[in-house]
Amino acid sequence: MTTVQSLTRKQIDGGIRNALAAIYLAAYGDPSLPESQLDADNFASSTIRRHARRAGFRMVVATTDGQVSGYAYGFTGKRGQFWSDWLSGTAPAHIVETWVGDHFELVDIVVDPAHRGQGIAGLLHDHLVEGLPQERALLATTPDDGAAARLYGGRGWQILVPEIDGAKALYGLDLAVRAA
Ligand SMILES: CC(C)(COP(=O)(O)OP(=O)(O)OC[C@H]1O[C@@H](n2cnc3c(N)ncnc32)[C@H](O)[C@@H]1OP(=O)(O)O)[C@@H](O)C(=O)NCCC(=O)NCCS
Repeated sequence: MTTVQSLTRKQIDGGIRNALAAIYLAAYGDPSLPESQLDADNFASSTIRRHARRAGFRMVVATTDGQVSGYAYGFTGKRGQFWSDWLSGTAPAHIVETWVGDHFELVDIVVDPAHRGQGIAGLLHDHLVEGLPQERALLATTPDDGAAARLYGGRGWQILVPEIDGAKALYGLDLAVRAA
């Protein structure tokens, strides 16, 4: 059985950080390589801390049979931050004008490989975006026929720029329309 809960910055304690690092490592790294472990530790101890201080920070974690099985988070993206400024110099002007700045920046949704294909990412997504105050949300992911494309494509996200970062596309979700 899976439950999903929101965590404030202060609730992200050492135990949660270890769980997030383990999922990050299992999803993106090779547990046999020390550099992958370092990368995962850096994510949990540094990146999360930095992102959690940003306005609009929101994190949800899924727990399956008593263990953290996935996480999702984002914050309010603003001009002056790295990704917003990079997008502003990369995406077509009309997209930048409409979408970039004061958007909800969905940084990642990650599910432990041992728990995939059970609808956990869908649960995380729906909890994360529910009641967001921003009018628009943005994320970048690979628009192939895999789970991420299915996940977002089935939940109202549209491809704004097909190739924004290598194989990744820029996706947008119009939260104002959705709430209307
Ligand atoms: C993408 C990811 C989060 C999906 O997690 P998940 O819990 O397995 O996903 P779900 O079970 O909730 O399924 C989501 C959708 O993908 C579909 N799906 C699941 N596994 C799939 C697969 N292997 N191939 C194609 N579609 C798949 C599901 O049918 C579902 O579609 P639906 O909403 O139309 O029913 C997971 O694969 C992951 O952590 N990947 C690495 C990190 C990543 O790429 N994150 C996204 C970048 S922002």
